[in-house]
Amino acid sequence: MSLSKNLNSPDVGVMVSQAAPPWSVDMNAKMTCPLRVVAVSGGLQSPSKSAGLAQHMLELIANQVPCQQHLVELGQLAPQLTGVVWRSQLPETVERELALVEQADVLVVVTPVFRGSYTGLFKHFFDLIGQDALIDKPVLLAANGGSERHALVIDHQLRPLFSFFQSRTLPLGIYATDKDFVDYRLRDEALIERALLAVQRALPLIELTRNASPCTAEQVLAA
Ligand SMILES: Cc1cc2nc3c(=O)[nH]c(=O)nc-3n(C[C@H](O)[C@H](O)[C@H](O)COP(=O)(O)O)c2cc1C
Repeated sequence: MSLSKNLNSPDVGVMVSQAAPPWSVDMNAKMTCPLRVVAVSGGLQSPSKSAGLAQHMLELIANQVPCQQHLVELGQLAPQLTGVVWRSQLPETVERELALVEQADVLVVVTPVFRGSYTGLFKHFFDLIGQDALIDKPVLLAANGGSERHALVIDHQLRPLFSFFQSRTLPLGIYATDKDFVDYRLRDEALIERALLAVQRALPLIELTRNASPCTAEQVLAA
C-alpha cells in the first residue's frame, strides 16, 4: 500500500508520474522541482479504506502532474505516536514523516470517522505539526465512514482544523462510505468521478504553488 518511504532518497520507491523526468525545465528555462504530494491516512487498521482512498487520490494527482508521492499511514505509526506528548520525544522514523508533511507542496488528508469526527490519532499527529508549517499549503480533504450520516465531518471537523493552520483547503471534499469500497479500493463510479473532479479543480491552485516555489540548485540535485 505504501509508496515512497523517503521523498529525498533516490533509491526507495519514489514514484514519479508519467514519463516525466524527476525535474524539468520549462519554456523559460526555469527549473521546477517535482511536486511533493503527501497523503496522510488516519486509518488505524491494515488494510484500511482510508489508506485505499488516500492512495486513490495520490494516483489521480500523479495522472495530472509529474510528482513525487508519499503516503503516511498513521495506523502503522501508532505504537510510536501514542506514548509521545512532545515532538522532541518522537523517534526519528516518525519525526521524518512529520517533516515530509511540513515540506509537502500539496497535502491530501483522509480520516475514518470515529465517533462523529477524525480519529484521536489523526488529531494527535497534527498537534505535533509546526503551527506555521502548513500556511498556504493546498490541502485536499477526504473522509470515510460506516454511513452517510457523518459526511459533514469534512466541513465541520477537518476544514476548521486546517483553517487553524491557515492552509488552503480545497473546496471539493471527498466522503466515502464502507459500501463504496471493494477490497479496500474505491469502486463506486460516482465517487470516483467526484474524486477526479476534486483533483481537476485543485490543479490551478497546485500550479500556483508550484510556480511560487522555484527550485534551488540543491533541490534539483536531490531530486
Ligand atoms: C471506534 C469507531 C468509531 C466509529 N465511529 C463512526 C461514526 O461515528 N460514524 C461513521 O459513519 N462511522 C464510524 N465508524 C466506522 C468507520 O469510520 C468506517 O468503517 C471506516 O470506513 C473505517 O475506515 P478504515 O478501514 O480506514 O479503518 C467507526 C468505527 C470505529 C472502529
